[in-house]
Amino acid sequence: MIVVTGGAGYIGSHACVNLLEHGFDVLCIDSLELSHIETVNMLKNISMSHFYFEKIDLKNKEDLTRVFDKYSGQIDAVMHFAAYSQVEESVKYPGKYFRNNVVSSLNLFEVMIEHGIYSIIFSSTCSTYGQPPQVPIDESCPQNPVNPYGMSKLMIEKILAAFDTAHGLKSIKLRYFNVIGADARGRIGEWHTPETHLLPRILKSYFNEGATFNIYGDDYDTDDGTCVRDYVNVEDLAEAHRLAYTYLMENKVSDAFNLGTEKGSSVKEIFDICSKVTAKKLNVVVTERRAGDCAKLYADASKAKSVLGWKITRTLEDSVRSAYAWEQKLQGIIKYIK
Ligand SMILES: NC(=O)c1ccc[n+]([C@@H]2O[C@H](COP(=O)([O-])OP(=O)(O)OC[C@H]3O[C@@H](n4cnc5c(N)ncnc54)[C@H](O)[C@@H]3O)[C@@H](O)[C@H]2O)c1
Repeated sequence: MIVVTGGAGYIGSHACVNLLEHGFDVLCIDSLELSHIETVNMLKNISMSHFYFEKIDLKNKEDLTRVFDKYSGQIDAVMHFAAYSQVEESVKYPGKYFRNNVVSSLNLFEVMIEHGIYSIIFSSTCSTYGQPPQVPIDESCPQNPVNPYGMSKLMIEKILAAFDTAHGLKSIKLRYFNVIGADARGRIGEWHTPETHLLPRILKSYFNEGATFNIYGDDYDTDDGTCVRDYVNVEDLAEAHRLAYTYLMENKVSDAFNLGTEKGSSVKEIFDICSKVTAKKLNVVVTERRAGDCAKLYADASKAKSVLGWKITRTLEDSVRSAYAWEQKLQGIIKYIK
């Protein structure tokens, strides 16, 4: 059995689908603070007999201990997605981010050790690199995060290193770039309130007549002047987690891997693909640059490819198509549950 913390959230739920479809037992632990019971119900529908759910907050160590006691002897490893991850909010409320991300993780690692579980896959982020000296970014790039969210994730990476030395807790840190797309069968997708990520915000605007969309600066040193980021498909990312699990169970070593497509795409390119997929046009306004945005960020993911055997199988257009299909369905779900 694999424990998936934050398994009702965007990326965690896609990891649950991947694991269930490969025959694993999955114990999803989530407070549902940032996610929805409808997602949990959908996961149950995939496999009633292999999917388990416990609604708890990881900040509460007693609840966490009770859950690990209940499934004692059945858990092989943990995939740890649960976190707060909005950069701007973390700048305003750093304490909230350190408490939720760092304290929860500390509780989890201690409870794992107390229950004899020594394997964890951790959701880290390219935000731990801050503003890197060069692109593409490989795993040896210095980690100098520039906001409390990135700092909280780097602190957790460091705690994992100390727990490996002291207790033999082996961890794979997966540093994701920008995650996009949805389940190709339309069962789940990105469902955040408020939504802060670029693609779902663009797609939501299509359902909001007269909406205008801001591009923050078109005078960067990039081909079309808009910022370039690395957009990785959520199903490809879920697959990387299963490969990381297999690698960890076979090799029992701690390591870190970047997960990105190695191809940067500009904000304008994303708009162009959205227009093509939706056959709709948006009012787009170019405004001032935002403080702290760098021109280009994209991954060198060759280590994940060569060591884990990871492959990118979906294109940017595949991701936009699945995300748009999901957004159409989500608009219906939201109306229904209101
Ligand atoms: N989305 C991205 O582009 C991206 C990029 C890099 C890294 N990440 C990391 O990936 C992970 C998943 O991101 P996501 O986009 O799926 O986020 P999400 O907000 O959709 O999911 C997080 C889930 O964790 C749960 N959660 C949060 N704190 C909890 C706690 N204390 N106890 C129990 N449950 C808790 C939430 O209810 C939610 O279901 C996060 O750790 C995030 O930092 C995401």
